[in-house]
Amino acid sequence: MRFLSLALVLTISLTNGGCDDRLPIASHTMFPKGFMFGASTAAYQVEGGWNADGKGMSIWDNITHVHPDFIRTYQNGDVADDSYHLYKEDVKALKAVGMQLYRFSISWPRILPNGRINQINQPGLDYYMNLIDELLANDITPIVALYHWDLPQALEDIGGWLNPDIAQYFEEYADLIFKTYGDKVKWWITINEAWSVINGYGSFAWAPALNLHGTGDYLAGHNLLRAHGKAYRLYQRKYSHFGGKLSMAFCGAMCLPASDAPEDIAAAERCYQFSFGWFAHPVFKGDYPPIMREMVDRNSKAEGRNVSRLPYFTQEEINEINGTVDWFGLNYYTSMMTKNGITGDNPSTLRDTEMIQYWDPSWPSTASDWVKVVPQGIRVLAKKVKEEYGNPLTIVTENGYSDHGDRDVDRIGYFESHLAEIRRAIYEDGCNIVGIAIWSIIDNFEWKDGYTVKFGIVEVDFNSPNKTRTLKKSAYWFQNYIAMHKLIQ
Ligand SMILES: *[C@@H]1O[C@H](CO)[C@@H](O)[C@H](O)[C@H]1NC(C)=O
Ligand SMILES: *[C@@H]1O[C@H](CO)[C@@H](O)[C@H](O)[C@H]1NC(C)=O
Ligand SMILES: *[C@@H]1O[C@H](CO)[C@@H](O)[C@H](O)[C@H]1NC(C)=O
Ligand SMILES: *[C@@H]1O[C@H](CO)[C@@H](O)[C@H](O)[C@H]1NC(C)=O
Repeated sequence: MRFLSLALVLTISLTNGGCDDRLPIASHTMFPKGFMFGASTAAYQVEGGWNADGKGMSIWDNITHVHPDFIRTYQNGDVADDSYHLYKEDVKALKAVGMQLYRFSISWPRILPNGRINQINQPGLDYYMNLIDELLANDITPIVALYHWDLPQALEDIGGWLNPDIAQYFEEYADLIFKTYGDKVKWWITINEAWSVINGYGSFAWAPALNLHGTGDYLAGHNLLRAHGKAYRLYQRKYSHFGGKLSMAFCGAMCLPASDAPEDIAAAERCYQFSFGWFAHPVFKGDYPPIMREMVDRNSKAEGRNVSRLPYFTQEEINEINGTVDWFGLNYYTSMMTKNGITGDNPSTLRDTEMIQYWDPSWPSTASDWVKVVPQGIRVLAKKVKEEYGNPLTIVTENGYSDHGDRDVDRIGYFESHLAEIRRAIYEDGCNIVGIAIWSIIDNFEWKDGYTVKFGIVEVDFNSPNKTRTLKKSAYWFQNYIAMHKLIQ
């Protein structure tokens, strides 16, 4: 027995780079009983059917049609995985792997073609009802996001997330969604990655690509938070009898200090507060992170502005937004080294943060230019979330590895190492993480990278009329991994 234990200790410390060999052994081989495994997708990335059965146009339909060169490969999501017609194939794939959760998003313009409640597209409502029923029939729990970036173009035409009225439009949309699916769906995400949504306003990274850096991004973020707050309070008022749990899915690259110097540690902390904290602080604690308020106010004043570029909430809004998450949706792909310094457009959120970021050259690359493999970052992030927000119930709502269809074995390594760090966060740091929905079940439309960058554990033949789904090695790896865990559940 002793020899066996010693061998296990050695294996664990070796596979973890030997950075901590004081770990208890058994606890690190398996997740706790009840831990849930699943996978994620987003409407625009998989559905296709861009104008099917009365769907309205989204900002992604529009930008990819008006500016095909917005996508590096000149591709678009018109057909994608055709999940609008083939959702049963997706559920089959989830079931084959043994997934217990499926996190997907609802396309706002598929339900409300012009964004507003006065025109409801019944086939759109039916589509998600069928998907939810198919999942439940297969014992797969849905986690549903109301917004994963595909804003109705009709709402963008009146300012999109820059228009304060959008909070009310979002509330109306949420009302319809909760009313329609609330008895079947218990896990909700209002906004997926608000920090990415704002980059559509503050840069050219995503639709609507307005590039209003340092102004439009703060304003969009402000209205995203107001919209989230309204949707949450609405659920409390009208739908609490359904017993659902609401969250946002938070994101950012985890910011690791580049050195032990206090100014670099402070820069990494600012980096955290300007990404995860920007949205998590208001919904957990009320109002923006104090450091964010201080930096943007100071710079705005120095620029001769009499109003801060970071808008102020009214007290009523703070109260509405404060305490509006029942769980923490944690998206993690990568980390960045962060040190003190000034760079970035003037003005911009990057410049306001006063940091310089880079990737450690030792971190392995992926097919995505923004993802390096840094498994330890997810543990640091989980611990930070625990400390900042009182150890909320947490589900990792995205985590995944991209290749060009050529490095699926490295994908397995990515998941192995990240799952190991999540177990450490649970057992060593006491983080309340109860599940993971990986990105992604199937290869799909990877935004500006089109279909050439693949995150799926299931391959999709985009050239076949049926978009044939084929399990990759990583899918079989997950199948075994989950089956092993089901033995203890
Ligand atoms: C894109 O949106 C603009 C503004 O609504 C509209 O005028 C235009 O026709 C749309 N273009 C396409 C190709 O969808
Ligand atoms: C948010 O709510 C908590 C708990 O009620 C309270 O302690 C805190 O002061 C509120 N935050 C703000 C900014 O009002
Ligand atoms: C800021 O300055 C503008 C233009 O000078 C003025 O119209 C506005 O009233 C000022 N706002 C505040 C809050 O002082
Ligand atoms: C596509 O699916 C249809 C219906 O399931 C089937 O009849 C057909 O043979 C499939 N085609 C290919 C090329 O696999």
